[in-house]
Amino acid sequence: MIPAVTLNNGAKMPIVGLGTWRSEPGKVTEAVKVAISCGYRHIDGAYVYQNEEEVGAGIHAMIDQGVVKREDLFVVSKVSFRANKNEYKPFYYLRLSSKPGDELFPVDEDGQVISDNSNFLDTYEAMEKLVDAGLVKAIGISNFNKDQIEALLNKPGLKHKPVNHQIECHPYLTQEKMINYCHSKGITVTAYSPLGSPDRPWASSDEPSLLEEPKIKAIAQKYKKTPAQVLIRFHIERNVVVIPKSVTPHRLKENFQLFDFQLSKDDMKDILSLNKDWRGFALQWASKHKDFPLNAEY
Ligand SMILES: NC(=O)c1ccc[n+]([C@@H]2O[C@H](COP(=O)([O-])OP(=O)(O)OC[C@H]3O[C@@H](n4cnc5c(N)ncnc54)[C@H](OP(=O)(O)O)[C@@H]3O)[C@@H](O)[C@H]2O)c1
Repeated sequence: MIPAVTLNNGAKMPIVGLGTWRSEPGKVTEAVKVAISCGYRHIDGAYVYQNEEEVGAGIHAMIDQGVVKREDLFVVSKVSFRANKNEYKPFYYLRLSSKPGDELFPVDEDGQVISDNSNFLDTYEAMEKLVDAGLVKAIGISNFNKDQIEALLNKPGLKHKPVNHQIECHPYLTQEKMINYCHSKGITVTAYSPLGSPDRPWASSDEPSLLEEPKIKAIAQKYKKTPAQVLIRFHIERNVVVIPKSVTPHRLKENFQLFDFQLSKDDMKDILSLNKDWRGFALQWASKHKDFPLNAEY
């Protein structure tokens, strides 16, 4: 059994999941199959990743082969940009809204996402109805700040508390305040971009590289592990769910070999000291959105 965190609705969320953003449709079916064979039981997806069908094909293949049962898998999707899906999904996230239409990512001439001016509390209420209808098992939030979470938790008639908050988190952005806050409210946290998202299209060559970070490399050597394994294990030590993305079979395996070592308290302290509040996802394209979350302290 893979270690899991317990959600506030009693469900269990496997502590390591497979990220699928930028997983090419031609590769992701195989990646999902390899991941499930390695033991992954949690897959993180989104409509906007434009590969959910291929992710689903990988899941179906493994169910058909009897490797896994549907109820053993924790499959995540996200409402964002265009909420037009209505399939059975165990877990749905709410993110920034944008105007409805055919475009996947509607932006104005300045490259800013065009808001539909909807209120995220109303959208959350619509998502609660998906739980009531049995279409999703739980709902969560992503890229919210503390005030937005407070507004949600104080919403009159809140029926289904968010079970999880998905945020960017890694040693350069340790998110201590947000994690403590969420945990104090019974909301678990998922760390996205745990390896620093080295293939994100807007990455520049002068940015810091987590996989090349000398402190991480030294710790990895000590445990006879790879830097990626240390970067992923870092979250497990904090009881934070983590979703590294890969489509490369040997990396999928490597990124799951995490349960035969533990980082010491001193090593955790050293890793936490790398924090510089650096974001790979500063969400610049939404900086003028009325709900832009990243102006707040946390
Ligand atoms: N909620 C949100 O707003 C949000 C935002 C961003 C991401 N996410 C989710 O979080 C997931 C993970 O974040 P991410 O995709 O940004 O970045 P990431 O997981 O930090 O990094 C993925 C990159 O690292 C490479 N990689 C994977 N394992 C490696 C290893 N062992 N050694 C060296 N390189 C390795 C991958 O290459 P290969 O694939 O070529 O192996 C890929 O280029 C996403 O896929 C998505 O599901 C959510």
